[in-house]
Formats: sequence, C-alpha cells, structure tokens
Amino acid sequence: MRKKNEDKYKQFSNELLDWYDVSRRDLPWRAAPGASSNPYFVLLSEIMLQQTVVTTVIPYFIRFINKWPKIIDLAQADFNEVSSLWAGLGYYRRAKNLHETAKILVKQHNGIIPNDEDVLLTFPGIGEYTAAAISAIAYDTKSNVVDGNIERIFSRLYKIEEPLELSKQKIRTLSKKYLPCKRNGDYAQALMDLGSSVCIPKAPRCQICPIISTCKLGGTPNAAMYPKRLPKKNKKQRYGVFYLLMDDEGSILFSTNKNEGIFANMDVLPSIGWNEENKKLESSPKIISKELALFNLNWEILEKKINHIFSHFKLNCTLVFFRIKKSTLNNLIIDKKYRFVKKTELNKLAKPSLIKKILDVFEEEIVK
Ligand code: ADE
Repeated sequence: MRKKNEDKYKQFSNELLDWYDVSRRDLPWRAAPGASSNPYFVLLSEIMLQQTVVTTVIPYFIRFINKWPKIIDLAQADFNEVSSLWAGLGYYRRAKNLHETAKILVKQHNGIIPNDEDVLLTFPGIGEYTAAAISAIAYDTKSNVVDGNIERIFSRLYKIEEPLELSKQKIRTLSKKYLPCKRNGDYAQALMDLGSSVCIPKAPRCQICPIISTCKLGGTPNAAMYPKRLPKKNKKQRYGVFYLLMDDEGSILFSTNKNEGIFANMDVLPSIGWNEENKKLESSPKIISKELALFNLNWEILEKKINHIFSHFKLNCTLVFFRIKKSTLNNLIIDKKYRFVKKTELNKLAKPSLIKKILDVFEEEIVK
C-alpha cells in the first residue's frame, strides 16, 4: 500500500512537472528552464505577490529591479523612493517591510537571502507561505508551499467535504506527501500556475488538466463547488467622515500614516470615525456637529456617499469639503502631522484606493 501511494505521489508530481515544462508562464522573476533563480528576485516578487495578482505585479517588479538591481541597492535606497515606486500596488506596509528586510539582510546576512524557512520567518512581512515559497523557488528546498490556489487544487483532488476554513491543516498534511525529491521550486510554481489557469475557482478547465486522472472531482460538474465554504457572515458596518480641505491654489491637506493600521505608511485625507463603537456616526451626518467640525470649520457635506469593502468590515463614508483662503490659514489650529500637497504633487503620493476613490468623487462634485 505504501509503495502504491508513493507511486501515486510521484506520478502526480511528474505529470505536473511535465505539464509545467511546456505550459509555464514566462514571468520576469522566474529563472529560465534549467537555470538557477535569483533569490533577490524571488523575495521581491513574493512580497509583491502577497495580496496582488501577477499581472499587476509585473510592471512594478520590472521598475524595482531596474532601479535597484541588487538587494544592496534596495537596502541603501531612501524609503521615500521605495514608497513612491510602490505607489498604486496597495498594502503599503509591504513596502516598509520589504525595505526593512533588505536592510537586515545586508547588515546581518551579507546580502544573502537564507534558504531556511525559520530564518526567513524572522524578517518583517515574511509569513509561513512566503517563507516556504522563497526557499522552494530560490533554493529548491522541499518546502510545503500552500496558498489559496493550492488549497483549492487539493480540496478538489480529495473532494474534501469540510469547509476550507476547517480543513486547512488536513490539506497541508496531504500536500506535503506529494512534494517531489527534486525540482521543488518548479513544482511549487507548477501548482501556482495550475491554480491560476486550469483549476480556477468558478469554471475549472478540467479538460486540459494534467492531473485529471488523480482528481476525485476532475471533469465533473461538481468540481466548481469545491472547496466548500462556511456560510458568509454579514460584514460589520463602520462609518467615517473624510475631510477635503483645499486652499485657494488647489492644494489639499494630507497626512502620512505611521507604520501601523490598515493604511500603514500611506498618504491619507483627514478622517474621523471608522469604529463600530462610535454609534454617533451610525447614520451618515446631515449636518456637521461640533464634534465633526474638524479645525472648527463649517464643512459642506457632499450629497454623494461612498462605501468601501475591507476584509472585515464595510466602511460607509461621508465626504465633506471646505475651501480655505491661504491668508486665513494662520487662524486655524492644525496638527503638525498635516501638510498641504500641491495638485501637481498628488500623483507622487502613496494613496490607498479608497482615498483615490474619494478624490475622484470630490473632483466630480466640487472641483469644476
Ligand atoms: N503567486 C505567488 N507567488 C507566485 C509565483 N512565484 N508565481 C506565480 N504566482 C504566484
């Protein structure tokens, strides 16, 4: 029986690797077939690929390696430059973590990216998945790389009936058995490619799947129903007010967040609220009460409301506006974390997509 299982695992990895050799995506951080990977490219790409799709990452990755071809170049860069090249990629804490990791690697590891997952895990922004992916892809270690795509493949392969939320450990145990003895980087990337182009969530393309013969659901109409999920809970509602203070030259008041919170290190408009406990904001304000009159100004409330879905809550946003004469700015008490940003400089800021969306609404509604 053991021998039979070993053959099954081997057959799976061989078929997958054969498929990868002819169907692999040509990605700028991937080594050519037979060549070794550049560990810096692997680390950079894996951090960019956290929460972001491949097609979005490619141009950012290319800009980064053109500007900082080696890890030492990135470590020596000014963080403002790193942040501005990252602008638009989202989840800005990753840029800070990447820069910190590059500095630690150069200072403490001679600029060499370790192959040990436990060491990789000690760096900021590197979790279990990223550590496994870096060590497998850069150094061919036998690491169990499991992301959402790979969970989907194994839950179909075994027709796992428990919801994914409850079967993650089971899937990890199963996927570990299939790890081949060599070409582990290619194997991990083959699974990633299979998950993104064949074993896709809604309409799996079983007819072209290289491992259909081993898959319990392969080719059946039920395949798309796996992995099963727990019923969705309604997202918690939160409420916020966002303030656009514009001077008579069109400059807008912004601040840059500290390295914490949902928009860590990003440039944001002043805002109030955001917490569920704050019942006062539960219905969007119709008038600006004293509490909401930031800097004691008589803000105008825009008719148009927007909302933004985060992973754990939905933020209902009220947008308010005030145009101020530069000559009267001295009368305001404005915390020194804020600064006015010229219109021409706005594109250089690291703005979260929510703030971009809000600026677009302001542009349409008031800046005519
Ligand atoms: N997603 C995360 N890492 C990836 C990689 N190395 N190749 C393709 N997709 C990925």
